[in-house]
Amino acid sequence: MVLPSAYTLIADDLRAVDGIIRARLHSEVVLVRQVAEYIIAGGGKRLRPALLLLVAGALNVRGSQHHELAAVVEFIHTATLLHDDVVDESSLRRGRETANALFGNAASVLVGDFLYSRAFQMMVSVGSMRVMEVLAEATNVIAEGEVLQLTNCHDADVDVESYLRVIRYKTAKLFEASARLAAILAGSDADLEEAMARFGMHLGTAFQIVDDVLDYSGIEDETGKHLGDDLAEGKPTLPLIHVLRHGTPEQTACVRQAIEQGGREAFPQVLAAIRACGALEAALSHARNEAARATAELLRLPPSRFRDALLQLTSFSVERNK
Ligand code: IPE
Ligand code: IPE
Ligand code: MG
Ligand code: MG
Repeated sequence: MVLPSAYTLIADDLRAVDGIIRARLHSEVVLVRQVAEYIIAGGGKRLRPALLLLVAGALNVRGSQHHELAAVVEFIHTATLLHDDVVDESSLRRGRETANALFGNAASVLVGDFLYSRAFQMMVSVGSMRVMEVLAEATNVIAEGEVLQLTNCHDADVDVESYLRVIRYKTAKLFEASARLAAILAGSDADLEEAMARFGMHLGTAFQIVDDVLDYSGIEDETGKHLGDDLAEGKPTLPLIHVLRHGTPEQTACVRQAIEQGGREAFPQVLAAIRACGALEAALSHARNEAARATAELLRLPPSRFRDALLQLTSFSVERNK
């Protein structure tokens, strides 16, 4: 699937952001450059910068601060990916070997720290205490989300509420910050800023639910990641929680054991149980519901091509296969 034409509307902005990313990756330490350039060159959808730029466009933000902040959110996202692949023991991302597989866990963790702290240097250069407050909070909540997820691993009693809390923290928070920052740069009133924050939060929640569905039903050539990474870590994601609530005793027992043990051996049986229970459709319907709530918030923006593009990106986030 090609990314939506929403990106063509901000093609110049995205080029400017890429220029900033490239310039700000610089370090005198060779290994920092190697690892950071490796993961950035892998591509990625640049979804969080796109959101920030589109909301900024819809609110007539001028100047270049939104370019700097779009690069900041991509750096924070990239740092979380470097750390996440170590924690998840993943070996494929963006269609290539992960940085941890190629350079080792230590290099990935340390260069992740470099990217976080570089992001903080960059946000200071914007010179706004409010911007720093939003990004500092988001980064802290993301870390809490990853730790919370760690405590949920191998626990088959995790409920939907607890799952949603993890994904709001680890994923939706950065979407929320991206949309909120654009509203702050535009000098929006508190109501509109909160509406944009809620938009990002619902969109990010939908996005992670779909990511968790694709971990079972995706095509590796499209997602660029190995299927089954979540099961291998014993992560109780929404498709599994659905089977545990609605499956037959046999299906429930199979999924419970797979979560508790982790590993990849039970993947075919777990996938069969997921399919038999309609768990992927149920999770997708939850994601569509979140996307509808995101759309409702978007309609508070004045009509424009940017708003249309945001609507398009919102439906892409749930219908995507990559
Ligand atoms: C991957 O995010 C991590 C999640 C929050 C699911 P993306 O799917 O946006 O990753 P890239 O940047 O496009 O590779
Ligand atoms: C997203 O969760 C984690 C982050 C927010 C970094 P996943 O572990 O599902 O992300 P992928 O599937 O590895 O990209
Ligand atoms: Mg992962
Ligand atoms: Mg995933």
